Amino acid sequence: KKPVGAPDKKLARPVTKVGVLGAGLMATQFALLFVRRLQVPVVITDLDQARVDKGVAAIHGEIDTLLGKGRISQDEANRLRALVTGTTDKADFADCDWVIEAVFEELGVKQDVFAEIEGIVSPETILATNTSSLSVEQIGAKLQHPERVVGFHFFNPVAVMPLIEVVRTPATNDETLSTAMVTAANLKKNAVITKDSPGFVVNRILAKLLGEAMHAVDTGTPFEVMNRALTPLGQPMTPFELLELVGLKVGAHVLDTHHAAFPDRFFQSENLHRLAEHGRIFDRDAKGKIKGFDKKAVEIV
Ligand code: 3HC
Repeated sequence: KKPVGAPDKKLARPVTKVGVLGAGLMATQFALLFVRRLQVPVVITDLDQARVDKGVAAIHGEIDTLLGKGRISQDEANRLRALVTGTTDKADFADCDWVIEAVFEELGVKQDVFAEIEGIVSPETILATNTSSLSVEQIGAKLQHPERVVGFHFFNPVAVMPLIEVVRTPATNDETLSTAMVTAANLKKNAVITKDSPGFVVNRILAKLLGEAMHAVDTGTPFEVMNRALTPLGQPMTPFELLELVGLKVGAHVLDTHHAAFPDRFFQSENLHRLAEHGRIFDRDAKGKIKGFDKKAVEIV
């Protein structure tokens, strides 16, 4: 069934090489998805060689996990490894027809990386952004060809979550939108086309849940009470577990963005910023299993 608002598939351009800007948690997860599902070369970059090496190692680690689980053969693992390269030289992006960024969630940073890459790639190369809640239109506002900018928002964990939000701006042309929709389908994800509004669809709802949960803690309900009360709601994770999954800094940023756009409807939380600086809410064992609340986190709130 054709997704609501999707242009003709025939307008889609082929994706034969993918460039990934940023080598952090989200970027490495979707880099692996691109290489696995599209079977095309994927080049990944970040600020310095150490970050690039860490990102490539994370992708190799996930390929090993897939191999260990018997999801892919040794040949496939070797092929996937060979298709992923790390670089600090953006000139290696010159022949990419799809570039996607997941760099720091700050408008100026995202505008700058796209402006730099626009000088390197062809005018038709799609520039996709995985931003969680910034305006996609503004991210592309300084470009000569903003018609090839589109939001392409994955959810964490990328391998498991079935949705991609494809964000169309007033400038996005049908070729770009069609390429994004066909690419999402080739990645075996469900895609919806959303308006370029804060939080798009999912984070707008999630920001309400996470913001209310943090606000209750901020105004005196202990973490423990909140977490226990929210566990039976049938969600796979409580709001605090979800905040750690997406990253406390990302979570705080999402709340700030919503508060700025709709101050009467969304909370922001100073405590969440402090927790983000501290780095955790839960105390976990070596395998990542929750043992209880982190003592310092409880002191912070
Ligand atoms: N990375 C990769 N794979 C992961 C993973 C991770 N971080 N966490 C779990 N998985 C995989 C496991 O390997 C397993 O795969 P397998 O079947 O191939 O072995 C599968 O997920 C199921 O894992 P488990 O059985 O260990 O765990 P659960 O059944 O408890 O499910 C979960 C884990 C899927 C993460 C579940 O807790 C969940 O759905 N949580 C909510 C996630 C969510 O809402 N994400 C959206 C966040 S919002 C966002 O990302 C937007 C951003 O802009 C803020």
